[in-house]
Amino acid sequence: MITKFKKVVGTVRVPKSIKICSVVVGILFLSIYVTTSPHGDSHSKKDMTRPVSTLYEQRAPSRDGIGKIYMGREISQVMGHLAAGWLERPEREREEMPNLLIESLKLKEGDVVADIGVGTGYIARRISPVIGNTGTIYGVEIQQEMLDILAEKMTEEGITNIKGILGTITDPKLPPNSVDLVIMVDVYHEFSHPYEMMKNICRGLKIGGRVAFVEYRLEDDNVPIKRLHKMSELQVIKEATPHPLSWVETIDSLPWQHIIIFEKVAVE
Ligand SMILES: C[S@@+](CC[C@H](N)C(=O)[O-])C[C@H]1O[C@@H](n2cnc3c(N)ncnc32)[C@H](O)[C@@H]1O
Repeated sequence: MITKFKKVVGTVRVPKSIKICSVVVGILFLSIYVTTSPHGDSHSKKDMTRPVSTLYEQRAPSRDGIGKIYMGREISQVMGHLAAGWLERPEREREEMPNLLIESLKLKEGDVVADIGVGTGYIARRISPVIGNTGTIYGVEIQQEMLDILAEKMTEEGITNIKGILGTITDPKLPPNSVDLVIMVDVYHEFSHPYEMMKNICRGLKIGGRVAFVEYRLEDDNVPIKRLHKMSELQVIKEATPHPLSWVETIDSLPWQHIIIFEKVAVE
């Protein structure tokens, strides 16, 4: 079975104080860079007017990658539906603590959630009871096979508040201004068109609605996941910057992943 695991050799732990300092400095640097770069070739908010094709570079693909570079990061291959069993592995409870993740999101009854790259619904099925019958989860996928597995599991578990959506590689096809929280667990680094996806995700969000990027921590060598399937906090913040999103918080309580939360702001 294809998995995202790798063998870990060495381990380095960065002290929390250093990490917090580097994030604050990084955010400061990004905001100065974005507002002052004279070159017009940084991927700043000004780039919203650049032809999208110039945002990406193509190189020879590395192992697990597609060779397409966005903001200095090689995009990873998509995890195929044949590996769906890996998403439901029992050890995942211990490795990722999905209930703690969902608690951190502070969802409430009636919320509208979009789980982009929903897979088998491992996360969406756990969010389902929290938002209740008055809430809705849009479970977005580009693989119909994943949506079929999700539908089977919903029937087995009697879940009715998840709506499967077959999106495209550029558009999750969310109703405009409708979503309170977009969640992407182990997904964003696989987007072949991250700029277009985020642009359309923002269109689906309400003003004040939140986006949660849940990515394996690149900063932590103890996390035994392949390089291109991990992302640093600063890289996520950098890639969110061209969009009408404001960083809210980063939660580091999960064993392997960070939860990086942004809020949609109104654009003048
Ligand atoms: C590693 S799986 C994670 C599934 C699920 N989020 C979970 O944590 O169990 C990533 C999923 O993202 C989906 N995906 C990749 N690019 C996508 C896109 N542009 N729109 C929607 N889904 C996408 C893939 O098809 C795959 O099922």
